[in-house]
Order: sequence, then C-alpha cells, then structure tokens
Amino acid sequence: MIEKLDPESLARPNIRALLPYSSARDEFTGDEGVFLDANENPFGQRNRYPDPHQRLLKKALSERKRIPVENIFIGNGSDEVIDLIYRIFCEPQRDRVIICPPTYGMYEVSANINNVEVVQVPLTERFDLDIDKILSYPAQCIFVCSPNNPTGNRLHNAERLLAEFRGIVTVDEAYIDFSAGNSFLEKLTDYPNLIVMQTFSKAWGLAGARVGVAYANAAIIALMDKTKPPYNVSAPNQAEALKALSDPLEFERQVSVILDQRALLEKELKDLPAVRRVHPSDANFLLVEVTEANAMYQYLVDKKVIVRNRSAVVRNCLRITVGTPEENRMLLDELRNYG
Ligand SMILES: Cc1ncc(COP(=O)(O)O)c(C=O)c1O
Repeated sequence: MIEKLDPESLARPNIRALLPYSSARDEFTGDEGVFLDANENPFGQRNRYPDPHQRLLKKALSERKRIPVENIFIGNGSDEVIDLIYRIFCEPQRDRVIICPPTYGMYEVSANINNVEVVQVPLTERFDLDIDKILSYPAQCIFVCSPNNPTGNRLHNAERLLAEFRGIVTVDEAYIDFSAGNSFLEKLTDYPNLIVMQTFSKAWGLAGARVGVAYANAAIIALMDKTKPPYNVSAPNQAEALKALSDPLEFERQVSVILDQRALLEKELKDLPAVRRVHPSDANFLLVEVTEANAMYQYLVDKKVIVRNRSAVVRNCLRITVGTPEENRMLLDELRNYG
C-alpha cells in the first residue's frame, strides 16, 4: 500500500506561507446594516461586491452532490481552476506537468503561461491512459479528462493513476453529466491528492456565466481559496448558477434531449458515405472520422454550419457538438448533399 500524500506538502512554499487578502466582506459577513466598508457606490443595482466565498452556491452544490462545503471551490470557469492548480503546485521554470493528448488544450496553454514544463504522454490507440509511461516521469501534476475532449470516451484506467502517481491528479469532468458512468467524486475521500473539476458551462447551459467547480480535500480547497482573486465569481454569475441548480427537472430535460439527439446523430452520420467512423461518446459531442476532414469542414463552413476541425490532433476527424433537433437536422441535410 502506497502511503497517502499530504496535499499541503505538495504546494509551493510561497503559497503555503501566503497571507490572503482580507476583503471588507470577509471582516463583516452579516446581510443587514449601513455598508460603508468597501468603498462601493451606494446607488444602483450591482453596486455591491459579490460574496467572495459564494456561500449560497456552495451550499446548494453541497446538497446536490452530497459533498461537504469545505471540499468545494468555485472558479471563474474551470479555466481559472486550471490556472490556480499550476500557481499553487508548480514552481515556474522548475516543475513539470503531464498531459495526455489528444485532450483539452487549456492544460498546456495554462502550463505555458505559468512557465511549467509540459511532458506529453499520448493516450493509447484506444484513447486510454498509458499508465506505465506516465508513472515513469516524475511530475508535480497531471491533468486527465474523463469523458475526454475531443475523443468523447471515459478513461477506464485512471484509478491506478490515482493510487500510484505521487503528485496532484486533476480529473476534468466537464462532460460527466452526459455519461452514465460514475464520477470520480466518489474517490475523493480515498485520494487526498485528487481534484475533480466540473463546470456549469456544459450540461447546466451556462458557458456565458463562467462558473467552474473543483472538488478536493479540504486542504487543497483552502489553498485555492486563499490564492484566488477575492471576488472571482461575479454576483450575476453566482445567481445564474443558483437559479440553474434550483430547477433540476429542466436540467434533466435538456440532458435527455441532448442524449437522444446524440444517439440519432451517431446513427445518421454512420450511414453517410464520407463518414468512416463515429467514435462512441459519453459527452455532448461526437468525434467523427471522415474521408477528408479539411474539405468537409470547409464545405460546412460555406453552408454556415460550424463544427470543430480536429484533424491536427486526430487524423481526419471533426468534432461535432450535439445541437438542438433543428440544428442537427440542418447539419445532416447539408452532409447528405456532400460530395
Ligand atoms: C474538458 C474541458 N474542460 C473545461 C472546459 C472549460 O470549462 P469552463 O467553461 O468551465 O472554463 C472545456 C471547454 O470546452 C472542456 O472541454
């Protein structure tokens, strides 16, 4: 049995020693009174700073996910969470991160911004993790994505990674609500070095609001809380996320339409002569191998149907997001006239 990691000991010394900014809203937390403490304009609708600790949103998430509030961090999108992980755990110009392409591009961009060396360990041919190779590189962090963007599959062998990797393991579950598989949230208590990222940008329909979530050991959440900008999630964005959480039936309705449409798209695409393969998907998109991706991409752009050309990362592949039934019909109609 490998000894459990103390996540605090993995953080950069300057972050461990950091005294966080204490905002006016930290020092007095009541709702009522004459507020002359934050140099706000006393007039207007959005004149007050938001709750820096997003208490109402965390409480609602805690109830839905059955995870204690001290294990929840809210970011300005998952992209802020990714950046924070580097800033907390990776010393610029010294430390390394492992990334498993093809995968979400921000893990690498954010590493480059933070001057952290990227070690690429590509997914296997079946789009699974190459665990032995990963474990052969010492690194402070690894990002894995399940279901993975752009391949759409869940990773089946990440548990061994959790057990054996001696750094921070971030599992990005941006697309988990479209998958019938289990979330890594249930592993949080077993692995103190695990961070699970989720987001309001996909199944919750709030990409415009920028609300991302990290679930982790309380020590990791405390490090994130003291490193983030104090008011990182705006009041309207917190309110939008709370509103979405208050209507779980609408959430389920939308997810169910998207899943039905994914099945229909998969079936119809497979019948097209220019489609070689539709990869199975646990997400709200399909990775589709076609005879000539660049040509098909340009054809669709000319028809004002925009998909993502991923042929630079997976040969001859387009990534197609599942849209509304009408949008999907338009895509299929155009493709039936192709070539
Ligand atoms: C795997 C993955 N993670 C995170 C994100 C971004 O999430 P957010 O909008 O919360 O920053 C995306 C967006 O496409 C994604 O594909």
